[in-house]
Amino acid sequence: MLLQQLGVELVPVRLEADGLDVAQLEAALEGGPIRLAHVIANAHNPAGCTLSVEKRRRLVELAAEHDFWIFEDDPYRELPFEGEPLETMLSMDEGSKVVHASSFSKTVSPGVRVGYLAGPTDEIKKLAKKANETYISPNMLAESIVLELCRSGELDRNIEFVKGELKARCEALVEALREQIPEAEFVVPDGGYFLWLDLAEGTDSAALLAEAKADGVSFVAGPDFMIEGGENSLRLSFAPVPADRAAEGVSRIASALDRLRS
Ligand SMILES: Cc1ncc(COP(=O)(O)O)c(C=O)c1O
Repeated sequence: MLLQQLGVELVPVRLEADGLDVAQLEAALEGGPIRLAHVIANAHNPAGCTLSVEKRRRLVELAAEHDFWIFEDDPYRELPFEGEPLETMLSMDEGSKVVHASSFSKTVSPGVRVGYLAGPTDEIKKLAKKANETYISPNMLAESIVLELCRSGELDRNIEFVKGELKARCEALVEALREQIPEAEFVVPDGGYFLWLDLAEGTDSAALLAEAKADGVSFVAGPDFMIEGGENSLRLSFAPVPADRAAEGVSRIASALDRLRS
C-alpha cells in the first residue's frame, strides 16, 4: 500500500514453498530495470514459507549484477520452530545492496514499537537523516525497555518460550485443518505466526470471512495481501489462539464454509 501511494510500479513475483520464485524475478529483470526487491525471508507473512539459502545467495548475486536494492524484511528470523535461523542476505552481501529490517514486535510485543535497520553505513546514515526529519526522535523510553530486556537475558528466555508456544499452536491448527477442512491446501509453516491456505477454486474468502465473523472467528481474506488474485485464499494467524482452542476455531470456519456453499 505504501509503495502504491508513492506511485511506484509494482512487479509481483510468485511464492513457492521455499520462498519467492527467483526464476520469475530473473525474467522480470530481463523486461526492464528493477529498483528494489521487498523480500520477507523467514516465515513469510502471509505465506508462512521460508526462503532457502540457495535462493538467498542467488538474490544477492542478482542484486549486485543488476544493481537493485534488497529490502530484507525480517521480523520472524528469531522464531523458527526447529534449529537455528538461516543466514541473512545482509551477511551474504558483498556488494552493499542489502538493507535488513527487523523489529521487536514479534519477540517482545507489537505495542513496544521498536525496530531497526542494518546495512551499508552510508545508506543507513541517509535513512536515519530522513527518519529524523520525519519524526524527530524515536521513542527512547520504549528503546530503553527493550535494551534492558536484552541485557538481562529476559529477551532470550522469552524467545525460547514464544517459539515453543507458537510451534504447539501451529501444530494444533494444522491437525484441525487436516481433519475438518481436508480440501485446504497449505505449506506447513516452519516458524512465525501465519498459515496461508487455498480453498477450492471459486470460493469467495471475503464472503467466508463475513460468515465466520458472525461466529466469532476471524482471519484475513486473501485479496487483502495480493496485487491481484487471492479470492479463494485466506491467512490464519495461529499466534493468538491457544492450542486447545484451535479445533473449535477451525470447526467454526468449516461450518461457515458449509453455510456459504448452501
Ligand atoms: C514482514 C513484516 N514486516 C514488518 C512487520 C511490522 O513490524 P512492526 O510492528 O515493527 O511495524 C510485520 C508485522 O506484521 C511483518 O509481518
